[in-house]
Amino acid sequence: MGLQACLLGLFALILSGKCSYSPEPDQRRTLPPGWVSLGRADPEEELSLTFALRQQNVERLSELVQAVSDPSSPQYGKYLTLENVADLVRPSPLTLRTVQKWLLAAGARKCHSVITQDFLTCWLSIRQAELLLPGAEFHHYVGGPTETHVVRSPHPYQLPQALAPHVDFVGGLHRFPPTSSLRQRPEPQVTGTVGLHLGVTPSVIRKRYNLTSQDVGSGTSNNSQACAQFLEQYFHDSDLAQFMRLFGGNFAHQASVARVVGQQGRGRAGIEASLDVQYLMSAGANISTWVYSSPGRHEGQEPFLQWLMLLSNESALPHVHTVSYGDDEDSLSSAYIQRVNTELMKAAARGLTLLFASGDSGAGCWSVSGRHQFRPTFPASSPYVTTVGGTSFQEPFLITNEIVDYISGGGFSLNSSDYSCLPLSSTSASSWNADLHCSICRFLLFSVYSLSPGTNH
Ligand SMILES: *[C@@H]1O[C@H](CO)[C@@H](O)[C@H](O)[C@H]1NC(C)=O
Ligand SMILES: *[C@@H]1O[C@H](CO)[C@@H](O)[C@H](O)[C@H]1NC(C)=O
Ligand SMILES: *[C@@H]1O[C@H](CO)[C@@H](O)[C@H](O)[C@H]1NC(C)=O
Ligand SMILES: *[C@@H]1O[C@H](CO)[C@@H](O)[C@H](O)[C@H]1NC(C)=O
Ligand SMILES: *[C@@H]1O[C@H](CO)[C@@H](O)[C@H](O)[C@H]1NC(C)=O
Repeated sequence: MGLQACLLGLFALILSGKCSYSPEPDQRRTLPPGWVSLGRADPEEELSLTFALRQQNVERLSELVQAVSDPSSPQYGKYLTLENVADLVRPSPLTLRTVQKWLLAAGARKCHSVITQDFLTCWLSIRQAELLLPGAEFHHYVGGPTETHVVRSPHPYQLPQALAPHVDFVGGLHRFPPTSSLRQRPEPQVTGTVGLHLGVTPSVIRKRYNLTSQDVGSGTSNNSQACAQFLEQYFHDSDLAQFMRLFGGNFAHQASVARVVGQQGRGRAGIEASLDVQYLMSAGANISTWVYSSPGRHEGQEPFLQWLMLLSNESALPHVHTVSYGDDEDSLSSAYIQRVNTELMKAAARGLTLLFASGDSGAGCWSVSGRHQFRPTFPASSPYVTTVGGTSFQEPFLITNEIVDYISGGGFSLNSSDYSCLPLSSTSASSWNADLHCSICRFLLFSVYSLSPGTNH
Protein backbone atom coordinates (compact mmCIF):
# COMPACT_ATOMS: atom_id res chain seq x y z
CA MET A 1 0.00 0.00 0.00
CA GLY A 2 1.42 3.38 -0.97
CA LEU A 3 2.03 6.44 1.14
CA GLN A 4 -1.09 8.08 -0.21
CA ALA A 5 -3.29 5.21 0.90
CA CYS A 6 -1.65 5.31 4.30
CA LEU A 7 -2.31 9.01 4.65
CA LEU A 8 -5.86 8.48 3.60
CA GLY A 9 -6.03 5.75 6.21
CA LEU A 10 -4.79 8.19 8.80
CA PHE A 11 -7.63 10.59 8.37
CA ALA A 12 -10.36 8.19 7.40
CA LEU A 13 -9.32 5.84 10.19
CA ILE A 14 -9.04 2.97 7.75
CA LEU A 15 -6.03 0.95 8.55
CA SER A 16 -4.43 -2.12 7.24
CA GLY A 17 -1.59 -4.04 8.81
CA LYS A 18 1.00 -2.55 6.49
CA CYS A 19 0.04 0.99 7.39
CA SER A 20 0.31 0.69 11.12
CA TYR A 21 3.03 0.04 13.69
CA SER A 22 3.37 -0.85 17.36
CA PRO A 23 5.00 1.95 19.34
CA GLU A 24 5.43 -0.17 22.48
CA PRO A 25 5.72 -3.83 21.48
CA ASP A 26 7.95 -4.50 24.52
CA GLN A 27 5.59 -3.06 27.15
CA ARG A 28 4.55 -5.64 29.76
CA ARG A 29 0.81 -6.16 29.67
CA THR A 30 0.31 -8.83 32.29
CA LEU A 31 -1.93 -8.02 35.21
CA PRO A 32 0.16 -6.96 38.24
CA PRO A 33 -0.47 -8.88 41.48
CA GLY A 34 -3.44 -7.57 43.41
CA TRP A 35 -5.48 -6.49 40.36
CA VAL A 36 -8.52 -8.25 38.92
CA SER A 37 -10.37 -7.80 35.67
CA LEU A 38 -14.01 -6.75 35.76
CA GLY A 39 -14.59 -7.37 32.07
CA ARG A 40 -14.91 -5.34 28.93
CA ALA A 41 -15.69 -1.61 29.19
CA ASP A 42 -18.90 -0.16 27.79
CA PRO A 43 -18.25 1.42 24.35
CA GLU A 44 -20.01 4.63 25.40
CA GLU A 45 -17.91 5.12 28.50
CA GLU A 46 -15.40 7.96 28.48
CA LEU A 47 -11.70 7.61 29.09
CA SER A 48 -8.75 9.96 28.97
CA LEU A 49 -5.53 9.13 27.16
CA THR A 50 -2.16 10.85 27.05
CA PHE A 51 -0.33 11.36 23.78
CA ALA A 52 3.43 11.88 23.96
CA LEU A 53 4.30 13.99 20.91
CA ARG A 54 7.71 13.70 19.27
CA GLN A 55 10.03 16.44 20.50
CA GLN A 56 12.69 18.36 18.65
CA ASN A 57 16.37 18.95 19.53
CA VAL A 58 16.63 16.17 22.11
CA GLU A 59 20.37 15.83 21.31
CA ARG A 60 20.87 19.52 21.99
CA LEU A 61 18.93 19.21 25.25
CA SER A 62 21.24 16.39 26.30
CA GLU A 63 24.31 18.57 25.58
CA LEU A 64 22.82 21.44 27.56
CA VAL A 65 22.15 19.14 30.53
CA GLN A 66 25.84 18.18 30.50
CA ALA A 67 26.95 21.81 30.15
CA VAL A 68 24.87 23.24 32.99
CA SER A 69 25.80 20.32 35.26
CA ASP A 70 29.57 20.22 34.67
CA PRO A 71 31.56 22.45 37.07
CA SER A 72 34.28 22.90 34.45
CA SER A 73 31.87 24.17 31.82
CA PRO A 74 31.40 27.92 31.33
CA GLN A 75 27.67 27.22 31.30
CA TYR A 76 27.75 25.54 34.70
CA GLY A 77 24.72 26.54 36.76
CA LYS A 78 23.21 28.61 33.94
CA TYR A 79 19.95 26.76 34.03
CA LEU A 80 17.22 27.11 31.44
CA THR A 81 13.74 28.35 32.22
CA LEU A 82 10.79 26.20 31.29
CA GLU A 83 10.18 28.64 28.43
CA ASN A 84 13.75 28.09 27.15
CA VAL A 85 13.15 24.34 27.33
CA ALA A 86 9.87 24.75 25.47
CA ASP A 87 11.59 26.71 22.69
CA LEU A 88 14.04 23.86 22.32
CA VAL A 89 11.90 20.73 22.47
CA ARG A 90 8.48 21.90 21.28
CA PRO A 91 7.18 19.51 18.58
CA SER A 92 7.38 20.77 15.00
CA PRO A 93 4.34 22.54 13.53
CA LEU A 94 3.87 19.50 11.29
CA THR A 95 3.76 17.18 14.29
CA LEU A 96 1.32 19.42 16.16
CA ARG A 97 -0.92 19.71 13.10
CA THR A 98 -0.85 16.03 12.19
CA VAL A 99 -1.64 14.77 15.69
CA GLN A 100 -4.35 17.36 16.19
CA LYS A 101 -6.06 16.44 12.93
CA TRP A 102 -5.88 12.75 13.74
CA LEU A 103 -7.38 13.24 17.20
CA LEU A 104 -10.12 15.62 16.06
CA ALA A 105 -11.13 13.26 13.28
CA ALA A 106 -11.46 10.50 15.87
CA GLY A 107 -13.78 12.64 18.01
CA ALA A 108 -11.31 13.47 20.80
CA ARG A 109 -12.57 16.19 23.13
CA LYS A 110 -11.31 18.37 25.97
CA CYS A 111 -7.70 18.10 24.89
CA HIS A 112 -5.20 19.75 27.24
CA SER A 113 -1.60 20.53 26.44
CA VAL A 114 1.36 21.69 28.53
CA ILE A 115 3.71 24.67 28.18
CA THR A 116 6.23 22.58 26.25
CA GLN A 117 3.40 21.36 23.96
CA ASP A 118 4.84 17.87 23.86
CA PHE A 119 1.96 16.15 25.67
CA LEU A 120 -1.75 16.12 24.97
CA THR A 121 -4.40 14.56 27.15
CA CYS A 122 -7.80 14.05 25.53
CA TRP A 123 -11.13 12.43 26.32
CA LEU A 124 -12.69 9.86 24.02
CA SER A 125 -15.36 7.23 24.29
CA ILE A 126 -14.11 3.66 24.55
CA ARG A 127 -15.54 3.04 21.05
CA GLN A 128 -13.60 5.99 19.62
CA ALA A 129 -10.42 4.99 21.45
CA GLU A 130 -10.60 1.42 20.13
CA LEU A 131 -11.00 2.75 16.58
CA LEU A 132 -8.19 5.24 17.07
CA LEU A 133 -5.79 2.63 18.44
CA PRO A 134 -6.32 -0.60 16.51
CA GLY A 135 -5.65 -3.66 18.60
CA ALA A 136 -6.56 -1.99 21.89
CA GLU A 137 -9.50 -3.46 23.77
CA PHE A 138 -10.45 -1.71 26.98
CA HIS A 139 -11.35 -3.61 30.14
CA HIS A 140 -12.10 -2.53 33.69
CA TYR A 141 -9.70 -3.48 36.46
CA VAL A 142 -9.73 -2.93 40.17
CA GLY A 143 -6.82 -3.25 42.58
CA GLY A 144 -4.02 -1.54 44.44
CA PRO A 145 -3.94 -0.50 48.07
CA THR A 146 -7.11 1.59 47.80
CA GLU A 147 -9.10 -0.52 45.33
CA THR A 148 -8.52 1.87 42.47
CA HIS A 149 -10.58 1.46 39.28
CA VAL A 150 -8.76 1.76 35.98
CA VAL A 151 -9.46 1.04 32.34
CA ARG A 152 -6.61 -0.68 30.50
CA SER A 153 -6.04 -2.75 27.38
CA PRO A 154 -4.63 -6.27 27.76
CA HIS A 155 -3.77 -6.21 24.04
CA PRO A 156 -1.15 -4.05 22.33
CA TYR A 157 -2.26 -1.00 20.38
CA GLN A 158 -1.11 0.16 16.99
CA LEU A 159 -0.80 3.58 15.42
CA PRO A 160 -1.08 4.59 11.76
CA GLN A 161 2.33 4.43 10.11
CA ALA A 162 1.97 8.08 9.14
CA LEU A 163 2.16 8.98 12.85
CA ALA A 164 5.48 7.22 13.41
CA PRO A 165 7.48 10.47 13.13
CA HIS A 166 5.03 12.33 15.38
CA VAL A 167 4.02 10.21 18.39
CA ASP A 168 6.33 8.50 20.92
CA PHE A 169 3.64 6.52 22.71
CA VAL A 170 0.11 6.69 24.07
CA GLY A 171 -0.26 6.63 27.86
CA GLY A 172 -3.16 5.14 29.78
CA LEU A 173 -3.38 1.77 27.99
CA HIS A 174 -1.05 -0.67 29.69
CA ARG A 175 0.84 0.56 32.72
CA PHE A 176 -0.98 0.19 36.05
CA PRO A 177 -0.64 2.62 38.94
CA PRO A 178 2.33 1.58 41.07
CA THR A 179 1.83 -0.34 44.28
CA SER A 180 3.75 0.55 47.40
CA SER A 181 7.53 0.50 47.24
CA LEU A 182 7.57 0.15 51.02
CA ARG A 183 8.08 -3.51 51.83
CA GLN A 184 7.75 -5.25 55.09
CA ARG A 185 11.21 -6.42 56.06
CA PRO A 186 11.57 -10.01 57.24
CA GLU A 187 11.72 -10.70 60.97
CA PRO A 188 15.25 -10.25 62.35
CA GLN A 189 17.25 -13.49 62.57
CA VAL A 190 18.66 -12.83 66.01
CA THR A 191 16.29 -13.73 68.82
CA GLY A 192 16.34 -11.72 72.00
CA THR A 193 16.68 -8.33 70.33
CA VAL A 194 13.45 -8.57 68.38
CA GLY A 195 11.63 -5.28 68.34
CA LEU A 196 14.51 -3.40 69.92
CA HIS A 197 15.99 -0.73 67.71
CA LEU A 198 16.88 2.87 67.86
CA GLY A 199 13.92 5.06 67.03
CA VAL A 200 15.11 7.08 64.03
CA THR A 201 13.46 10.32 64.98
CA PRO A 202 14.22 13.60 63.21
CA SER A 203 16.69 14.65 65.89
CA VAL A 204 18.62 11.38 65.39
CA ILE A 205 18.89 12.07 61.68
CA ARG A 206 19.85 15.68 62.22
CA LYS A 207 22.50 14.65 64.73
CA ARG A 208 23.91 11.98 62.40
CA TYR A 209 24.36 14.55 59.65
CA ASN A 210 25.74 17.20 61.99
CA LEU A 211 22.86 19.58 61.42
CA THR A 212 22.86 22.28 64.07
CA SER A 213 19.93 24.50 64.99
CA GLN A 214 21.32 27.01 62.46
CA ASP A 215 21.05 24.48 59.65
CA VAL A 216 17.49 25.31 58.73
CA GLY A 217 15.88 27.40 56.01
CA SER A 218 16.37 31.08 56.86
CA GLY A 219 13.42 32.29 54.85
CA THR A 220 15.64 34.78 52.99
CA SER A 221 16.34 32.60 49.97
CA ASN A 222 13.74 30.87 47.90
CA ASN A 223 14.50 27.42 49.21
CA SER A 224 11.77 24.97 48.39
CA GLN A 225 11.27 21.23 48.22
CA ALA A 226 8.55 18.81 47.23
CA CYS A 227 7.60 15.20 47.48
CA ALA A 228 5.33 13.30 45.14
CA GLN A 229 2.93 10.51 46.08
CA PHE A 230 1.23 8.24 43.62
CA LEU A 231 -0.31 5.58 45.76
CA GLU A 232 -3.56 7.38 46.46
CA GLN A 233 -2.21 7.86 49.90
CA TYR A 234 -2.74 11.02 51.82
CA PHE A 235 -1.04 12.77 54.68
CA HIS A 236 -3.06 14.79 57.14
CA ASP A 237 -2.17 18.32 58.19
CA SER A 238 -3.14 17.54 61.75
CA ASP A 239 -0.79 14.52 61.84
CA LEU A 240 2.04 16.65 60.50
CA ALA A 241 1.42 19.33 63.13
CA GLN A 242 1.31 16.66 65.85
CA PHE A 243 4.50 15.04 64.55
CA MET A 244 6.29 18.39 64.68
CA ARG A 245 5.01 19.03 68.22
CA LEU A 246 6.41 15.66 69.31
CA PHE A 247 9.65 15.60 67.36
CA GLY A 248 10.39 19.13 66.12
CA GLY A 249 11.27 20.66 69.50
CA ASN A 250 14.94 21.33 68.86
CA PHE A 251 14.96 22.80 65.36
CA ALA A 252 13.04 25.58 63.65
CA HIS A 253 10.49 24.05 61.30
CA GLN A 254 7.32 24.64 59.36
CA ALA A 255 4.35 22.68 60.62
CA SER A 256 2.28 22.79 57.46
CA VAL A 257 2.71 22.15 53.77
CA ALA A 258 2.91 25.28 51.58
CA ARG A 259 0.99 23.80 48.67
CA VAL A 260 -0.73 20.58 47.71
CA VAL A 261 -0.81 19.94 43.96
CA GLY A 262 -3.42 17.41 42.89
CA GLN A 263 -6.05 15.76 44.97
CA GLN A 264 -5.50 15.42 48.67
CA GLY A 265 -8.40 13.06 49.29
CA ARG A 266 -10.23 12.50 52.51
CA GLY A 267 -9.10 8.91 52.97
CA ARG A 268 -7.15 7.59 55.90
CA ALA A 269 -3.60 8.87 56.22
CA GLY A 270 -1.11 6.50 54.59
CA ILE A 271 2.12 5.49 56.34
CA GLU A 272 4.23 6.15 53.27
CA ALA A 273 2.64 9.52 52.50
CA SER A 274 2.94 10.67 56.11
CA LEU A 275 6.54 9.47 56.42
CA ASP A 276 7.60 11.27 53.24
CA VAL A 277 6.21 14.64 54.31
CA GLN A 278 7.21 14.46 57.96
CA TYR A 279 10.81 13.42 57.38
CA LEU A 280 11.33 15.74 54.41
CA MET A 281 10.19 18.66 56.55
CA SER A 282 12.46 17.67 59.44
CA ALA A 283 15.66 17.08 57.47
CA GLY A 284 14.97 20.07 55.21
CA ALA A 285 13.61 22.01 58.15
CA ASN A 286 11.97 25.44 57.91
CA ILE A 287 11.86 25.11 54.13
CA SER A 288 8.75 25.73 52.09
CA THR A 289 7.37 22.31 51.06
CA TRP A 290 4.97 21.22 48.35
CA VAL A 291 3.26 17.89 48.08
CA TYR A 292 2.17 16.34 44.77
CA SER A 293 -0.65 14.08 45.76
CA SER A 294 -2.10 11.59 43.26
CA PRO A 295 -1.86 14.27 40.60
CA GLY A 296 -4.09 14.03 37.55
CA ARG A 297 -7.59 14.82 36.49
CA HIS A 298 -8.83 11.29 36.63
CA GLU A 299 -7.87 8.38 38.86
CA GLY A 300 -7.46 5.96 35.97
CA GLN A 301 -4.51 7.75 34.40
CA GLU A 302 -0.84 6.95 34.77
CA PRO A 303 0.05 8.96 37.85
CA PHE A 304 3.77 9.23 37.14
CA LEU A 305 3.09 10.52 33.65
CA GLN A 306 0.68 13.05 35.15
CA TRP A 307 3.41 14.26 37.47
CA LEU A 308 5.88 14.63 34.57
CA MET A 309 3.28 16.70 32.75
CA LEU A 310 2.82 18.96 35.76
CA LEU A 311 6.58 19.62 35.73
CA SER A 312 6.27 20.76 32.10
CA ASN A 313 3.27 22.95 32.81
CA GLU A 314 4.56 25.15 35.64
CA SER A 315 7.43 27.64 35.34
CA ALA A 316 8.08 28.14 39.05
CA LEU A 317 8.53 24.91 40.96
CA PRO A 318 10.38 23.73 44.04
CA HIS A 319 14.01 23.03 43.23
CA VAL A 320 14.24 19.66 44.93
CA HIS A 321 11.75 16.83 44.41
CA THR A 322 11.74 13.50 46.15
CA VAL A 323 9.77 10.69 44.61
CA SER A 324 9.29 7.13 45.79
CA TYR A 325 7.79 5.80 42.56
CA GLY A 326 9.44 2.99 40.67
CA ASP A 327 8.62 0.22 38.19
CA ASP A 328 10.63 -2.83 37.22
CA GLU A 329 12.83 -1.62 34.37
CA ASP A 330 12.07 -4.76 32.34
CA SER A 331 8.31 -4.14 32.51
CA LEU A 332 8.52 -0.85 30.62
CA SER A 333 8.70 -0.28 26.88
CA SER A 334 11.86 1.32 25.54
CA ALA A 335 9.75 4.06 23.92
CA TYR A 336 8.42 4.94 27.38
CA ILE A 337 11.83 4.74 29.08
CA GLN A 338 13.47 6.91 26.46
CA ARG A 339 10.73 9.50 26.64
CA VAL A 340 10.75 9.58 30.44
CA ASN A 341 14.53 10.05 30.27
CA THR A 342 13.96 13.07 28.04
CA GLU A 343 11.43 14.45 30.53
CA LEU A 344 14.00 14.00 33.30
CA MET A 345 16.56 15.83 31.13
CA LYS A 346 14.11 18.70 30.74
CA ALA A 347 13.98 18.96 34.52
CA ALA A 348 17.77 18.67 34.87
CA ALA A 349 18.29 21.48 32.34
CA ARG A 350 16.12 23.69 34.57
CA GLY A 351 18.30 22.90 37.58
CA LEU A 352 15.67 20.80 39.31
CA THR A 353 17.07 18.06 41.52
CA LEU A 354 15.05 14.86 41.35
CA LEU A 355 15.65 12.26 44.03
CA PHE A 356 14.22 8.78 43.48
CA ALA A 357 13.99 5.92 45.96
CA SER A 358 16.22 3.07 44.82
CA GLY A 359 13.63 0.44 45.74
CA ASP A 360 13.49 -2.23 48.40
CA SER A 361 14.45 -5.32 46.40
CA GLY A 362 18.24 -5.12 46.55
CA ALA A 363 19.64 -6.31 43.25
CA GLY A 364 16.23 -7.77 42.51
CA CYS A 365 16.77 -11.25 41.20
CA TRP A 366 14.27 -12.75 38.81
CA SER A 367 14.29 -15.63 36.43
CA VAL A 368 14.28 -15.18 32.66
CA SER A 369 13.98 -18.45 30.74
CA GLY A 370 15.55 -20.28 33.64
CA ARG A 371 18.45 -17.84 34.02
CA HIS A 372 18.68 -15.48 36.94
CA GLN A 373 18.97 -11.80 36.19
CA PHE A 374 19.08 -8.63 38.19
CA ARG A 375 16.02 -6.45 38.23
CA PRO A 376 16.63 -2.71 38.43
CA THR A 377 13.95 -0.17 39.17
CA PHE A 378 13.19 2.70 36.82
CA PRO A 379 13.47 5.74 37.03
CA ALA A 380 15.98 4.99 39.81
CA SER A 381 18.13 3.55 37.00
CA SER A 382 17.87 6.68 34.87
CA PRO A 383 21.11 8.65 34.37
CA TYR A 384 19.25 11.94 34.92
CA VAL A 385 18.13 11.52 38.52
CA THR A 386 19.83 11.06 41.88
CA THR A 387 18.96 7.69 43.35
CA VAL A 388 18.74 7.40 47.10
CA GLY A 389 19.09 4.10 48.89
CA GLY A 390 18.49 3.13 52.48
CA THR A 391 21.04 2.95 55.27
CA SER A 392 20.93 1.79 58.85
CA PHE A 393 23.21 2.28 61.83
CA GLN A 394 25.98 -0.24 62.35
CA GLU A 395 25.22 -0.23 66.07
CA PRO A 396 21.45 0.09 66.34
CA PHE A 397 21.50 1.65 69.81
CA LEU A 398 23.92 4.45 69.03
CA ILE A 399 24.18 7.12 66.38
CA THR A 400 27.13 5.51 64.68
CA ASN A 401 28.44 4.77 61.22
CA GLU A 402 25.89 3.89 58.65
CA ILE A 403 25.80 0.72 56.67
CA VAL A 404 23.87 0.10 53.51
CA ASP A 405 20.54 -1.47 54.26
CA TYR A 406 20.48 -4.87 52.62
CA ILE A 407 17.12 -4.39 50.94
CA SER A 408 18.25 -1.21 49.22
CA GLY A 409 18.49 -1.10 45.43
CA GLY A 410 21.45 0.47 43.73
CA GLY A 411 20.21 2.64 40.92
CA PHE A 412 21.87 0.57 38.23
CA SER A 413 20.40 -0.06 34.80
CA LEU A 414 20.64 -3.29 32.88
CA ASN A 415 20.43 -1.25 29.75
CA SER A 416 23.52 0.83 30.23
CA SER A 417 26.91 -0.82 30.05
CA ASP A 418 28.24 1.78 32.51
CA TYR A 419 26.08 0.54 35.34
CA SER A 420 25.29 -2.94 34.22
CA CYS A 421 25.83 -6.11 36.20
CA LEU A 422 25.19 -8.11 33.08
CA PRO A 423 28.77 -8.61 31.82
CA LEU A 424 29.53 -10.14 35.20
CA SER A 425 26.52 -12.40 35.23
CA SER A 426 26.90 -13.54 31.65
CA THR A 427 30.46 -14.85 32.01
CA SER A 428 29.65 -18.18 33.55
CA ALA A 429 26.19 -17.57 34.78
CA SER A 430 24.92 -21.05 34.22
CA SER A 431 27.34 -22.53 36.73
CA TRP A 432 26.59 -19.98 39.43
CA ASN A 433 23.82 -20.35 41.83
CA ALA A 434 21.42 -17.49 42.05
CA ASP A 435 22.42 -16.49 45.57
CA LEU A 436 26.08 -16.05 44.77
CA HIS A 437 25.19 -14.28 41.63
CA CYS A 438 22.95 -11.83 43.43
CA SER A 439 25.32 -11.28 46.31
CA ILE A 440 28.00 -10.25 43.87
CA CYS A 441 25.68 -7.74 42.36
CA ARG A 442 24.54 -6.60 45.77
CA PHE A 443 28.17 -6.13 46.72
CA LEU A 444 28.55 -3.78 43.77
CA LEU A 445 25.41 -1.99 44.80
CA PHE A 446 27.01 -1.21 48.15
CA SER A 447 29.00 1.55 46.55
CA VAL A 448 25.92 3.68 46.08
CA TYR A 449 24.02 4.83 49.07
CA SER A 450 22.82 7.91 50.78
CA LEU A 451 20.96 9.28 53.74
CA SER A 452 17.66 7.86 54.73
CA PRO A 453 15.67 7.32 57.89
CA GLY A 454 16.04 3.55 57.70
CA THR A 455 13.82 2.99 54.73
CA ASN A 456 14.36 4.16 51.22
CA HIS A 457 13.08 7.69 51.36
C1 LIG B 1 -1.58 23.15 31.79
O1 LIG B 1 -1.86 24.37 32.40
C2 LIG B 1 -2.90 25.10 31.74
C3 LIG B 1 -2.99 26.46 32.39
O2 LIG B 1 -3.10 26.33 33.77
C4 LIG B 1 -4.19 24.32 31.83
O3 LIG B 1 -5.23 24.99 31.16
C5 LIG B 1 -3.97 22.95 31.18
O4 LIG B 1 -5.12 22.17 31.33
C6 LIG B 1 -2.80 22.25 31.83
N1 LIG B 1 -2.52 21.03 31.09
C7 LIG B 1 -2.76 19.80 31.56
C8 LIG B 1 -2.39 18.65 30.71
O5 LIG B 1 -3.24 19.60 32.66
C1 LIG C 1 30.05 15.08 61.59
O1 LIG C 1 31.08 15.58 62.40
C2 LIG C 1 32.02 14.59 62.82
C3 LIG C 1 32.97 15.23 63.82
O2 LIG C 1 33.43 16.45 63.36
C4 LIG C 1 32.72 14.04 61.58
O3 LIG C 1 33.63 13.04 61.95
C5 LIG C 1 31.70 13.45 60.65
O4 LIG C 1 32.29 13.03 59.45
C6 LIG C 1 30.61 14.47 60.32
N1 LIG C 1 29.55 13.79 59.59
C7 LIG C 1 29.03 14.27 58.47
C8 LIG C 1 27.96 13.44 57.87
O5 LIG C 1 29.38 15.33 58.00
C1 LIG D 1 12.40 30.08 59.57
O1 LIG D 1 11.78 30.64 58.41
C2 LIG D 1 11.13 31.87 58.66
C3 LIG D 1 10.47 32.30 57.36
O2 LIG D 1 9.71 31.27 56.82
C4 LIG D 1 12.11 32.90 59.16
O3 LIG D 1 11.42 34.09 59.46
C5 LIG D 1 12.83 32.39 60.38
O4 LIG D 1 13.84 33.30 60.75
C6 LIG D 1 13.46 31.03 60.08
N1 LIG D 1 14.08 30.52 61.30
C7 LIG D 1 15.41 30.40 61.45
C8 LIG D 1 15.89 29.85 62.76
O5 LIG D 1 16.19 30.70 60.56
C1 LIG E 1 11.35 33.32 44.55
O1 LIG E 1 10.24 32.68 43.96
C2 LIG E 1 9.35 33.55 43.33
C3 LIG E 1 8.16 32.74 42.85
O2 LIG E 1 8.57 31.56 42.30
C4 LIG E 1 10.07 34.25 42.19
O3 LIG E 1 9.21 35.15 41.55
C5 LIG E 1 11.29 34.98 42.74
O4 LIG E 1 12.02 35.52 41.67
C6 LIG E 1 12.17 34.02 43.51
N1 LIG E 1 13.27 34.73 44.14
C7 LIG E 1 14.51 34.28 44.13
C8 LIG E 1 15.50 35.08 44.92
O5 LIG E 1 14.85 33.27 43.54
C1 LIG F 1 19.12 0.23 25.67
O1 LIG F 1 20.39 0.25 25.09
C2 LIG F 1 20.40 0.14 23.68
C3 LIG F 1 21.84 0.05 23.23
O2 LIG F 1 22.62 1.02 23.85
C4 LIG F 1 19.67 1.33 23.06
O3 LIG F 1 19.62 1.23 21.68
C5 LIG F 1 18.26 1.35 23.61
O4 LIG F 1 17.59 2.47 23.14
C6 LIG F 1 18.28 1.38 25.13
N1 LIG F 1 16.93 1.30 25.61
C7 LIG F 1 16.47 2.15 26.49
C8 LIG F 1 15.10 1.88 26.94
O5 LIG F 1 17.10 3.09 26.92
